[in-house]
Amino acid sequence: MKIHAAGGLHGEIAVPGDKSISHRAVMLGSLAEGTTEITHFLESADCLSTIACFRRMGIDIEKTKDKIIVRGKGLHGLHRPDGILNAGNSGTTTRLLSGILAGQSFESTLDGDESLRTRPMKRIMTPLRQMGADIESLRDNNCVPLTIRGTKLHGIHYDSPVASAQVKSCVLLAGLYADGVTELTEPSLSRNHSELMLSCFGAEVAGSNNTVRIHPDPTLHGCQVQVPGDISSAAYFLAAALLVPNSEILIRGCGINPTRDGILRVCRQMGADIETIREYSSGGEKMADLLVRTSHLKGITIGGDIIPTLIDELPVIAVIACHAEGMTVIKDAAELRVKESDRIEVMTENLKRMGADVAAIPDGMIIRGSEGRRLHGARIDTCLDHRIAMSFTVAALCAEGETEIENADCVRISYPSFYEDLFSLTDRI
Ligand code: S3P
Repeated sequence: MKIHAAGGLHGEIAVPGDKSISHRAVMLGSLAEGTTEITHFLESADCLSTIACFRRMGIDIEKTKDKIIVRGKGLHGLHRPDGILNAGNSGTTTRLLSGILAGQSFESTLDGDESLRTRPMKRIMTPLRQMGADIESLRDNNCVPLTIRGTKLHGIHYDSPVASAQVKSCVLLAGLYADGVTELTEPSLSRNHSELMLSCFGAEVAGSNNTVRIHPDPTLHGCQVQVPGDISSAAYFLAAALLVPNSEILIRGCGINPTRDGILRVCRQMGADIETIREYSSGGEKMADLLVRTSHLKGITIGGDIIPTLIDELPVIAVIACHAEGMTVIKDAAELRVKESDRIEVMTENLKRMGADVAAIPDGMIIRGSEGRRLHGARIDTCLDHRIAMSFTVAALCAEGETEIENADCVRISYPSFYEDLFSLTDRI
């Protein structure tokens, strides 16, 4: 994809459904009794991997024009898959599904693409083994392929060393199959979509502070799930509208769950003009229409408990910081190193190619804003990471000259129509 600077962004956009919530709706719908109807489901490569895995275990999942219909078979209704479960690029599919598979009465193997094969799975293997799970990394490197021989599980209390919703959700889903209450404490609160949706489906889940508890063996009932717009996808338009002069856009139906809205808090603290026009909620998930205008921004320090609430937005926040006045420090974000790519190295390397003043630190980045001086176009190596491709598309919109995004089609992982949607907001790219 070759991109030249854009004129102002104008108009309205409704971003596709939330990726985390779409995965969970298919998973809980499959384990529920009765039918689950999911509207605004994200039909991206990652979520389609989750659908494919559950179909392989005998779940009937139908796609109609405007919804996904999952005909659940109850907690104990999955069948042994007829081959390897392929999670593709999706860490969420792998980690959440592992929790479910640990409690089944059959053996299964989970695998994925080259990127997934490098991502750490010990973080789920440790608590699952404490629960009694039989889980093995076939190459003995704590990565997929994983073979899981389903067995009886025990309730535990797990003190998670990382604030990870994937670890938390894996343990909670395994907890559905345990012989007692399962509890998990995390160092900072990570996204709580699993807790909210499990409650809606009828599970007994309760939490306070950073601890969550689930009772085993509930009867889950099929639900109507309306998936909010993905704030992680909205982030690119929000950033572009803040940075490209003379912009004003309305983002409709954007999820603003407080465990995900860190980008809004950070941008507002930097001086961003983001107006919340209308707030509503569905299934315990808050949504809003957001009006965003070009803004003069100032650098800040971002670290601590806010990090899990904006972890996937840090690449585009780094792009924003490059255009702010003064210094931005991103810290406590070492998790960025084990995402679809090492996002600290990949962001730093590519931002430098565009002329930014940025340095990598072990747990983040230090960025000196260009204060009016524009970045220049460059060739961007995305490392096949969707969020890197979209972040540098935003950088390109403000840069002088041409930017070339290699392998830009990796956006299909979370946002297949990203470029079409972006082009609809400006005719000057
Ligand atoms: C996700 C949790 C986060 C996030 C990922 C989606 C989820 O990962 O980065 O994109 O759906 O639970 P971690 O749990 O590894 O922090």
